Amino acid sequence: MYTFLILLFNIWQALALTLSVISESGSGFLDENGVCYCTVNLPDTTFPADRFEKLEIANHNLTITVEKEITKIYIYQSTLTVYIEQLKNLTKRVEIMENGGLSYTELEFELIKLEIKEMETLILQLKTSFNGSSIIIETLYQEIRNISIMVNQLEIYDKNNVLVIRREVAALKKRLEECEKNNTKPNYPSLPPPDNGTCEHGQIINNISKPFVVQLNWLGANHVYGGWGRDTRPGADQSVQWVAPLRDARMMDVVRFYPSYNDLTLYNGAAHANLHRWVSGSYYDYSNCGQGSGVIMYNHMLYYNCYNTLSVCKYDWRNNAFARAAIPGATYTNRFSYSHTEWQDIDLSADEDGLWVIYSTEENAGNIVISQLNDTSLAILQTWHTTQYKPAVTNAFMVCGVLYATRAISTKQEEIFYMYDTKTKKEGKLSVIFDKLKEIVQNLYYNPNDHRLYMYNDGFLIHYDLSFAPLSKPEISHSKVNPVQLK
Ligand SMILES: *[C@@H]1O[C@H](CO)[C@@H](O)[C@H](O)[C@H]1NC(C)=O
Ligand SMILES: *[C@@H]1O[C@H](CO)[C@@H](O)[C@H](O)[C@H]1NC(C)=O
Ligand SMILES: *[C@@H]1O[C@H](CO)[C@@H](O)[C@H](O)[C@H]1NC(C)=O
Ligand SMILES: *[C@@H]1O[C@H](CO)[C@@H](O)[C@H](O)[C@H]1NC(C)=O
Ligand SMILES: *[C@@H]1O[C@H](CO)[C@@H](O)[C@H](O)[C@H]1NC(C)=O
Ligand SMILES: *[C@@H]1O[C@H](CO)[C@@H](O)[C@H](O)[C@H]1NC(C)=O
Ligand SMILES: *[C@@H]1O[C@H](CO)[C@@H](O)[C@H](O)[C@H]1NC(C)=O
Ligand SMILES: *[C@@H]1O[C@H](CO)[C@@H](O)[C@H](O)[C@H]1NC(C)=O
Repeated sequence: MYTFLILLFNIWQALALTLSVISESGSGFLDENGVCYCTVNLPDTTFPADRFEKLEIANHNLTITVEKEITKIYIYQSTLTVYIEQLKNLTKRVEIMENGGLSYTELEFELIKLEIKEMETLILQLKTSFNGSSIIIETLYQEIRNISIMVNQLEIYDKNNVLVIRREVAALKKRLEECEKNNTKPNYPSLPPPDNGTCEHGQIINNISKPFVVQLNWLGANHVYGGWGRDTRPGADQSVQWVAPLRDARMMDVVRFYPSYNDLTLYNGAAHANLHRWVSGSYYDYSNCGQGSGVIMYNHMLYYNCYNTLSVCKYDWRNNAFARAAIPGATYTNRFSYSHTEWQDIDLSADEDGLWVIYSTEENAGNIVISQLNDTSLAILQTWHTTQYKPAVTNAFMVCGVLYATRAISTKQEEIFYMYDTKTKKEGKLSVIFDKLKEIVQNLYYNPNDHRLYMYNDGFLIHYDLSFAPLSKPEISHSKVNPVQLK
């Protein structure tokens, strides 16, 4: 209400003023349509001439300032053009360097760094003259900072990696040459002396070492299936190292035999064996090839599942001779493979008690069957039937006549969770956990000569040291270090 009254009062005032203006100057008239025309002569005193004058001066001042600024901008634009050209040139050169088109020397880096420093100083000067208010300058500054960082990174890359690696490689080469001249063995981890294959050490306990990575297989990282190792006959010479990267998950058709562990680590001096054979006409004979990665070396021979059959093959690599024998009832070709990997139906293993084959049969409903083999004749000496479903385990191996089976507990860890003692015909649960590098576990087996587990893990050749509890404890001990829920 109050506001409304004020509004009314204001309108009345305005009307009063208009009327007073008309009455003062006088000359108004009405036309025949009744429209009122009038001339109003405002009195001189109401025009703010002094304020207008001030405005004019201010405008003049402003114009001068703007002109100054425009001049500045012209200067600044031409400077910028130069900088942009320089920056483009610099970017190009850095790109060429990055792509390895130029061999970048330290001198070149020094030159570029000098140029960048110059540009940075100039840009900083520009920035202060514009009082830190220009976006373009800010961006340009940022770009120069960026290119400076890039050059520094490139330099670090070159110095720290390329140069250092080159130096290291040169040093290593020199050491190797010296070594060959000296004809002495370099300091590679030495093997423990082979024991006589006794089982006095007892059973596996939960203290398996970290994986020791020997190297990547000679065919490279894309060969994720395969096997490797040493002679598993108790007391056998441990010099020869064999490596067999599979062609795919299924076929083993090449094997290399390195004369020593040092040769293996240097990919040096291997004897190469092709298990396939060129048949006159137009095809290869793959019948002597292996299927899956259940291969081991025992008494100088390689033992493995013959390609696409229920047989065990024996390959005498020194005489290039093959022998084979069927495992009656054994299923093959992915009938009961190991979990996570196909073609692992028939798996060979060896321990203090000799040569074993781990497989499954229809009669045993896919559960693990163990047979001891005569390594000379490949005749089956004895067979045991377990209740462990074979496709539920990742891999299995024998130690002192006891079968141990593993399962994955994560992509990084594996657990020995099942055992079967062929001497007592008793099975048991346990929990022995060990790390793996990669998910795919292949060719896991025990070597009684060094008490190590061997594994082909996603292309890497690795091994583990096992720990054993004394035999005086007859009952299977559960994990104390890493307790897990057992089924
Ligand atoms: C115009 O510039 C003159 C001298 O630079 C200064 O004295 C004057 O105060 C300025 N006037 C306005 C309105 O900014
Ligand atoms: C960059 O500038 C240098 C001289 O400062 C010139 O020799 C070189 O050819 C230029 N490079 C490119 C890619 O424009
Ligand atoms: C930059 O701006 C600050 C205030 O923002 C002013 O005090 C200073 O005098 C200015 N410098 C220049 C060179 O214009
Ligand atoms: C500078 O580098 C940063 C981070 O690498 C990037 O986000 C930014 O856009 C770059 N600036 C210019 C002007 O290239
Ligand atoms: C080779 O022999 C020389 C002299 O006997 C010795 O100084 C050097 O360390 C040896 N090098 C290696 C790698 O054993
Ligand atoms: C192992 O065999 C060697 C001879 O080959 C013998 O001297 C040693 O006593 C045997 N060790 C055991 C523990 O049987
Ligand atoms: C476990 O292994 C480590 C290293 O190999 C060893 O020092 C330790 O004594 C072992 N512990 C047991 C309980 O065997
Ligand atoms: C293994 O077979 C060979 C050859 O047939 C034979 O001489 C040897 O006695 C057999 N060994 C066993 C333990 O049966």
